Amino acid sequence: MQLSLVVCALPLLLVSSSATSYGCDLHDPSNPCYIAGGGASDLGPDPVPFSTRAYWMRRAIAALADINEGSPCPFAAFGSVIVNHTAPGKGTGEGDRADQLGVEVCIGANSLVRDGNPTLHGEIAAINNCSRILTDPDGPYKLSGPEALQALSDLSLYTTAEACPMCSSAILYGGFREYIFSTSIPTLRSLSWPQIVIRSREIFSRSVGRLSVHRTRIIGDVLANETEQLFKWQYADGECPSGCEKKEGSGCVKPTTLNDSTGKDEL
Ligand SMILES: *[C@@H]1O[C@H](CO)[C@@H](O)[C@H](O)[C@H]1NC(C)=O
Ligand SMILES: *[C@@H]1O[C@H](CO)[C@@H](O)[C@H](O)[C@H]1NC(C)=O
Ligand SMILES: *[C@@H]1O[C@H](CO)[C@@H](O)[C@H](O)[C@H]1NC(C)=O
Ligand SMILES: *[C@@H]1O[C@H](CO)[C@@H](O)[C@H](O)[C@H]1NC(C)=O
Ligand SMILES: [Zn+2]
Repeated sequence: MQLSLVVCALPLLLVSSSATSYGCDLHDPSNPCYIAGGGASDLGPDPVPFSTRAYWMRRAIAALADINEGSPCPFAAFGSVIVNHTAPGKGTGEGDRADQLGVEVCIGANSLVRDGNPTLHGEIAAINNCSRILTDPDGPYKLSGPEALQALSDLSLYTTAEACPMCSSAILYGGFREYIFSTSIPTLRSLSWPQIVIRSREIFSRSVGRLSVHRTRIIGDVLANETEQLFKWQYADGECPSGCEKKEGSGCVKPTTLNDSTGKDEL
C-alpha cells in the first residue's frame, strides 16, 4: 500500500520539481517557456509596430520569388527572412528604435526538391544561409562559430507559415529573439497540406534545461490574409496567387514559366 502511494506520487514530484528548477513552467501562464506576442500577450504587447511586422512578412513572401527562379508561386511556398531588429534600421532614421525597420541578415526558401535535401524547409534554409553569411571571412560580419551562434539571440525569424516541429526545434536551438509566422498549421491542414500537427508553442513549452533559458517571442498569424493564397492551390482547389495562373497538369505557374510544378509527391 505504502509502496504504491510512493510510485503514484513520483511523477507529480518530477513535474513540480522540473517546473521550479528550469526557470519556466509548462503550465504557468505567468512564467511560460516562450514569450507570446501580439495583442493578447501575457507579457505585454508587441513593441514592434505592425507595419514593420507586415513589411518583413512581405519580404519573406518576396524571398520565394528571389530564390525560386523568379516564380511567385512555387509549390512549396515557404519563405523566410531573418532580421536584426536591434540594429538601427533603414527605416525612418530618427526617433524611437522601434519605429525603425531593422536590417535583413539573410533570406531562405524551401529548396528541398531542388537540392534533394529533406531538411531544407524555408526556415532551415534561412538559418543555414545566415550562418554562412555571419561566418564568411569575406562577408560583412566575419564572426567565429561561437560568435555566430551568440548573434542569433539578437535576431528575428519571419516565415510565411508556422514552422513544422523540425524547424520550430531549430529556431528553439538557435535561441532566436523572435519568431513570427503567418499562415498557421491548422490553416495548412484545412487546405489538406501534409503536416506533423504539433504547434510551435508546444515545442517551445516542452523545452527544459538550457533550452528554456532563451525566451523567444512568438507571434502567429501575421499577415495570414496575404500568405494564405500561397497555399490554397496545391492540395485544395483554390485560386492561384497573384502573378500566377493555372496550367493544365502543372498547377499554378508564372505565365512565362514552363513546367514550374515541382514534386507534389516528394513533399
Ligand atoms: C544586431 O544589431 C546590434 C545593434 O546594432 C548589433 O550589436 C549586433 O551586432 C547586430 N547583429 C547582427 C548579427 O548583425
Ligand atoms: C542568402 O541571403 C542573402 C541575403 O538576404 C540573399 O541575397 C541570398 O539570395 C540568400 N541565399 C540563399 C541560397 O537563400
Ligand atoms: C491584411 O491584413 C492587414 C491587417 O491585419 C492589413 O494591413 C492588410 O492590408 C491586409 N492585406 C490585404 C491584401 O487585404
Ligand atoms: C513540360 O512538361 C511536359 C509534360 O511533362 C513535357 O511534354 C514538355 O516537353 C515540357 N516542356 C519543357 C519546356 O520542358
Ligand atoms: Zn519545417
